[in-house]
Amino acid sequence: MTASSPKLEIRDLQVKYNAKDDNSIALDQVNLTIENGEFVSVVGPSGCGKSTLLKVVSGLLQPAAGTVKLDGKPISGIPDEIGMVFQNDALLPWKTIVDNVRLPLEIKGMPRKEQLAEVDRLLEMVGLKGFEHYHPKQLSGGMRKRVALSRTFAYDPEIYLMDEPFGPLDAQTRVKIGEEFLELWERVGKSVLFITHDIEEAIALSDRVVVMSKRPGRIKAEFTIALPRPRPFYEIRFDPLFKEMQKEIWACMSEEG
Ligand SMILES: Nc1ncnc2c1ncn2[C@@H]1O[C@H](COP(=O)(O)OP(=O)(O)OP(=O)(O)O)[C@@H](O)[C@H]1O
Ligand SMILES: [Mg+2]
Repeated sequence: MTASSPKLEIRDLQVKYNAKDDNSIALDQVNLTIENGEFVSVVGPSGCGKSTLLKVVSGLLQPAAGTVKLDGKPISGIPDEIGMVFQNDALLPWKTIVDNVRLPLEIKGMPRKEQLAEVDRLLEMVGLKGFEHYHPKQLSGGMRKRVALSRTFAYDPEIYLMDEPFGPLDAQTRVKIGEEFLELWERVGKSVLFITHDIEEAIALSDRVVVMSKRPGRIKAEFTIALPRPRPFYEIRFDPLFKEMQKEIWACMSEEG
């Protein structure tokens, strides 16, 4: 990595789900840069290509045109530096909750005793103590999402790719996890590409909020969120600048229908 290269650089990206069919263009002319330690959220209408964008960055999908660089290097395959929270939780159904969260620590080669202590801490954080030995199918959608989140925290990647990670959670849990996540992020300062439908959540968390147009998705507008840090994830919503941003982003998104 050179000092000047951003963490993530997406240039003139086009993605098609069917190479021969121009009607299958999901993303077109997408340009987006994320600096080291920057928190960027993407909002946009359902089907505009947000999950597609994350899949390209994580190396799961190949672009039809354009480039995606991580630390100045083109992405090939699935890079180690990336940790992804998928829109569906992608837990391993045959493993218990403890073993699902422990997996990245095991891969990193952490001693078993430390792995278990870390998993304990993470499950406590997401409110899942007592469910260690359950299997994913025995949990609710929101609980599985919390397991997936704690697994990403365990992995602690160079860049977090998060696809509606708080999606199916109830309002109270959403705020609790949001607070924890923001606090953790402010401490470690990793780059984040965060997808959400929730404008308030995007503003509360981000340095920048990017609005995508409807399909084929393009970057329609970018908003810098100049709210001070550290930020209280919930109370920041009462700040006049927060309200102002909310109004502007909402207006921009409503044009998309
Ligand atoms: N595997 C696939 N094969 C063909 N088309 C696909 C595939 N996955 C997604 N698409 C199409 O690409 C477009 C973008 O899908 P994507 O999942 O990226 O949207 P999204 O912005 O994440 O939507 P949501 O907010 O509902 O999650 C959609 O029109 C969808 O139909
Ligand atoms: Mg999606």
